[in-house]
Amino acid sequence: MVRQEVDGDVAVLTLANPPVNALGAALRASLDEALAQVIADQAIRAIVLAAEGKVFVGGADISEFGKPQHPPSLPDVLERLDASPKPVVAAIGGAALGGGLELAMACHGRIAAPSAKIGLPEIKLGIIPGAGGTQRLPRLIGPDAAFAMMVTGEPVSAEKAAALGIVDSVVLGDLVAAARTRALEIADSGTLPRVRDRSDKLTPEAREKFEALAADAVKRDPDATNVHALARAVRAGLEQDFDTAVATERAEFRALVEDPRSQALRYAFFAEREAARVPGLPKDTPRRPIRTAAVIGAGTMGGGIAMCFANAGIPVTVIETEGGALARGLDRVKGLYAGSAKRGSITEAQRDERVGRITGALGLEQAGEADIVIEAAFEDMGVKREIFSKLDTIAKPGAILASNTSYLDVNAIAAVTNRPQDVLGLHFFSPANVMRLVEVVRAEKTAPDVLATALDLGKRLNKLPVTVGVCFGFVGNRMLERRSRAGERLLLEGALPHEIDAAVTAFGFRMGPFAMGDLAGLDIGWRSRKDFGGRAPVADSLAEQGRFGQKTGRGFYLYPDGARTGTRDPEVEALIARVAAEHGVARRSFTPDEIVARLMYPMVNEGARILEEGIAARPGDIDTIWINGYNWPAWRGGPMHWADTVGLKTVAEALSRFASETGDDSQEPAPLLTRLAAEGGRFAGLKNA
Ligand code: 3HC
Repeated sequence: MVRQEVDGDVAVLTLANPPVNALGAALRASLDEALAQVIADQAIRAIVLAAEGKVFVGGADISEFGKPQHPPSLPDVLERLDASPKPVVAAIGGAALGGGLELAMACHGRIAAPSAKIGLPEIKLGIIPGAGGTQRLPRLIGPDAAFAMMVTGEPVSAEKAAALGIVDSVVLGDLVAAARTRALEIADSGTLPRVRDRSDKLTPEAREKFEALAADAVKRDPDATNVHALARAVRAGLEQDFDTAVATERAEFRALVEDPRSQALRYAFFAEREAARVPGLPKDTPRRPIRTAAVIGAGTMGGGIAMCFANAGIPVTVIETEGGALARGLDRVKGLYAGSAKRGSITEAQRDERVGRITGALGLEQAGEADIVIEAAFEDMGVKREIFSKLDTIAKPGAILASNTSYLDVNAIAAVTNRPQDVLGLHFFSPANVMRLVEVVRAEKTAPDVLATALDLGKRLNKLPVTVGVCFGFVGNRMLERRSRAGERLLLEGALPHEIDAAVTAFGFRMGPFAMGDLAGLDIGWRSRKDFGGRAPVADSLAEQGRFGQKTGRGFYLYPDGARTGTRDPEVEALIARVAAEHGVARRSFTPDEIVARLMYPMVNEGARILEEGIAARPGDIDTIWINGYNWPAWRGGPMHWADTVGLKTVAEALSRFASETGDDSQEPAPLLTRLAAEGGRFAGLKNA
């Protein structure tokens, strides 16, 4: 696990624990032993700590959290490192994250390759750094800058890390050689620069700034237990001696590991990675080369999808039927890139390169050379079938033909071609250039290499592809429909739009369903219900009155003078009461907890059906979709994980009650949910389909 090489009077210790050199028990033990040996070796004057692979160290081993710890602990290893009488210099060749950076900061010098990424992302896992990170980073760069980095968890580039003072220098070329030179320099100087001994950055001004940042962060997310803990830990470093403060940090860290929020976030971390593995699709499935792409449709979705390709360096042709629509679409894309360059999120050169990768063209024939064609036309089966039957004659042999449908039957789309094996769905989320989630819809005849290529492509596009099967609305929209239906029903039964939205935002969503509907436009759901069937008596009545939401100044709420936040409208509340009376629904009041249960349990129930039908391979895939496509609060781990924490018996019993209260039999618990509830089981205990 740790390779030892001796080069003159320098020992090079190389961590080798693929894929990310996570500091699990075996690696810790091996490192501790190697350090003890080289420190004791009279012939060694200095030590270099390097790592194999693209990542220096991806942190502590997250899968060990919450389980009995095997010694030595990471803080123990770092103590040995810190106390070494011989200089140790970290050669950071790739990402040094979490425990990885903590390890590097316990060294006496740090040299980074230009590609290195440096950060303490623990906050994203619901915890805080637990091996001295909250103490050493403030000593290196000041408590204010350190808190700012730790509270977002975003890593910085090597260059930025050098500018901040986290690493000593950035070196092109032989990193280990540079680290070796630095280690010998330190040895020659006769003094060991230990981060723990530094206090020059702990100035009263920096402290004041830190306190302001901490107050802000806590105010922004008062329920985030770890943000409070982070502030306390950094403050401890300013008030206590180093060892006491490290112990304070460790105690905070340990408590947070048991926090349900952190458990959910760690679950989501692994669920997201597991989603990349599709049961029954071997790792060595061949891939088709994707060098060029075509997108059919220059609308918001088509343009956004084209941007994903351009951003990833893949030339893409955007195809329209008519010059005006094409020009408008391309202008919109250029405008978005110009905005990004103006904000500084890309350089002007990047803007020009990306714009240059997108070519507009008229007529489907222009898709003939593309390795993948993504249709992003109207959500209408007739339109899609026509496009695919034409593409069948136009696209080159072996090209992948994808539909960006959000609901429709991809089997039926594939059936109009003579190559259904090459067809699949790629359901991007809006705005497609921003949202990471892509539902990859595997149709009945989709060939394994087409699926494997689409999943790889998703990663190349910097997306999070999750494989789903064919059904109306796939996983995300199918479950969303349940929530929408339950929301309408709640309105009739007496809960008001603002009460429902408030319950949903208190649950952790950024927006409630009605504010969201107003933002997206109530005409969208109205039209789609007209096309696909389904009734939403309140939303439909509003749309019939031309109340389409924010864009018309009126929807579920009022938006006077272009306001972005709606206010209550007595007219809407009267309309709801009228519709309820027409439907003979008795009205009462609901508590926020009741509202959440009424909205979310039916989604969980639909998730159970989705699992039974094999539309999703595992509960974690559903949760990954909801966290990344629908803004489900990650710290609640997705609907299926959340249901496990509520208890499936509670969920199933409540659903039966809802079914009898509303007369809607589809609310009855699905067989899988009934079985798990009876067994005292959990979704998390299910084996992969
Ligand atoms: N612990 C355990 N497993 C880890 C891990 C970690 N810290 N980091 C990554 N892995 C695993 C993944 O689960 C995945 O496993 P799989 O192949 O079986 O699915 C595999 O390593 C590869 O991971 P990715 O697919 O994410 O690989 P990438 O190359 O895309 O990204 C990375 C590499 C940037 C290092 C990314 O994995 C990452 O962000 N890891 C987590 C970083 C992190 O949060 N570190 C802090 C950990 S907590 C900590 O250190 C506490 C300390 O303060 C005491």
